[in-house]
Amino acid sequence: MNLERMLTMCREGQWSVDELDWSVTPRAFTREQELAICQYFTDMSGIELLAAALFEVQRDSTDDPILARIFDSFVADERRHAVVARRLAAHYDTRSLRRYQINPNLERFRGPFLDVLHRVSPEVANAYITTGELLLDVALLRSLNDYVDDDMSQQAMARINRDESRHIAVDYYMVEHYASPEHAAREAAGPRRSILARLRAALAMIVMLYRAGPFLREVFFEPLDLTDPSGRRMLEAFKRMQLLGRKPEVAARPFPTFLRTMQGLYNHPLIGRAFEPIIRRAIGLDARVIVDLYTPEELRRAQRMSIAEMAEEALQLKFAT
Ligand SMILES: [Fe+2]
Ligand SMILES: [Fe+2]
Repeated sequence: MNLERMLTMCREGQWSVDELDWSVTPRAFTREQELAICQYFTDMSGIELLAAALFEVQRDSTDDPILARIFDSFVADERRHAVVARRLAAHYDTRSLRRYQINPNLERFRGPFLDVLHRVSPEVANAYITTGELLLDVALLRSLNDYVDDDMSQQAMARINRDESRHIAVDYYMVEHYASPEHAAREAAGPRRSILARLRAALAMIVMLYRAGPFLREVFFEPLDLTDPSGRRMLEAFKRMQLLGRKPEVAARPFPTFLRTMQGLYNHPLIGRAFEPIIRRAIGLDARVIVDLYTPEELRRAQRMSIAEMAEEALQLKFAT
């Protein structure tokens, strides 16, 4: 990837919330639809702020000045998306049925999550942002937008999608960077972290994973069940992550290894049955996505592709139906 060119795209891609035409009248919704839509956009604003925090960590930990500026523009993008989401929630709140607040499980997740981000490597932050953005862009936002099926949401999502295309391209680029031999060599040459620091990081991780389950369920999986009942897009998003995690150079990294170990235990005939709820809680995921979602042919194909090609394919999905 040409980072200079990416930075130019980031600069030129900036836009303001007020450029959208907020004067359009929302289409008619039932009370139940209005309640769901306003709540989901409110939660979306919370997710966007988590994404901003993930990019802040990456901005502050890179020593490449161009990457730092790219990440800085992503922080601005995500904060803008949070504002747009809040404005969308207000836009569709035509009956004032109740006061909308960010899902309490998202709020409970935020603190432990930020704690982990400051204790673990930026590589883990990148694993989270890649996963989160695939899930958000390939599944949740598209399904929510289809469900709302209204001009205002359409306008906002079109703008947001343009920003997200840059984010996903860089997310994959960073996955490739962390999986490179150059990164491994630098890591080996760098200072070793103390046992205490590693213990603290592990503890922070446990607390975060414990909080992740209810948050993911209420903010990702339940809204997806309503807006994409077939689960097609969600499974598609998870399949992309699994295929990326199966690339040999990525698979060797600590975080994908952890996830694969948990998945292996979960699918183990004896251990899986006995510890199913604990393992599921530890990975914080829905049982539907803990199994392998790809066919052997899809796996072979992905192994032949470069990570940049996989990013390109994931990007195309955002615009498919
Ligand atoms: Fe975003
Ligand atoms: Fe993003």
